[in-house]
Amino acid sequence: MSAPSIFDDRMLSLGLARVAEQAAIASAKLVGRGDEKAADQAAVNAMREQLNLLDIAGVVVIGEGERDEAPMLYIGEEVGTGNGPAVDIALDPLEGTTLTAKDMPNALTVISMGPRGSMLHAPDVYMDKLAIGPGFEEGVVSLEMTPRERVEALAKAKGCNPDDITVCILERPRHEEMIGQVRETGAAIRLITDGDVAGVMHCAEAHLTGIDMYMGSGGAPEGVLAASALKCMGGQIQGRLLFRNDDERGRAAKAGITDLDKIYTRDEMVTEHVIFAATGVTGGTLLPGIKREVGYLTTETLLMRSKTGSVRRMIYRNPTKPRG
Ligand code: FBP
Repeated sequence: MSAPSIFDDRMLSLGLARVAEQAAIASAKLVGRGDEKAADQAAVNAMREQLNLLDIAGVVVIGEGERDEAPMLYIGEEVGTGNGPAVDIALDPLEGTTLTAKDMPNALTVISMGPRGSMLHAPDVYMDKLAIGPGFEEGVVSLEMTPRERVEALAKAKGCNPDDITVCILERPRHEEMIGQVRETGAAIRLITDGDVAGVMHCAEAHLTGIDMYMGSGGAPEGVLAASALKCMGGQIQGRLLFRNDDERGRAAKAGITDLDKIYTRDEMVTEHVIFAATGVTGGTLLPGIKREVGYLTTETLLMRSKTGSVRRMIYRNPTKPRG
């Protein structure tokens, strides 16, 4: 019997959860060990090994970098057995390498899969991002507004005051002016040192995380992953690629992007239904981290399908030695 060629998101989702889980398990020994590279490499190796077990004809569209700079899970790498549906894969084997090395909150392993052609081939440049959770009119906030206008518009839509809004922003010198403008509105700011995929995802569960809006620039690949997460959880994200030099503009051209100023909506970054899995590496507001005890490692994975809006939390207790 030949393998199915349609994207059966329901059947593939458990396989995707395993990929995220194994990447987290592989990086567990490196949490708090001060070695970002080793932690990332362990997650990359495990993610690639697991992906190659899946019956898919996968292509990495968001990965570890260009082919000449990433030996594994580079953009364009073919993964899977080749015996199955043609799919696009966006991944970040360890989102928050520094968070992992320093044992700080919200490091995740992240992967998303959709039918071939469903995800923006974002080059490895920065992206200006703005995200809010579900339940608001499309475009209620926009990248074209000033930070102050965004806070005021969201507060109005929520029926609260600007000082009831909490905004999540990456703590970077490039964001100082934005932070100043948000502070002037009276809104609270949750500054994070890394990990803006989690930062954006927090908006979709504002009642649990306390975060209403995410704004600021970070990696464009992370922007597509965050769009994929919000497609499953609900919520809006806008992203505009930022180019610092001709080399970066060249990357966009190579990825087939001609309109360099375009503001992408969530559904322009991720055009079809996808599945998304993330496993907690270090404990955070979205997911607990890997729990280590003698003989076992326990992980928690968020597994989501945009078609149904289903969100599963899967706890996996993995024996570190075969049981006698
Ligand atoms: P890594 O996991 O690759 O270290 O990325 C972490 C991260 O904080 C992302 O979440 C974010 O998009 C990007 O780095 C921000 O880049 P920069 O550190 O250059 O501001």
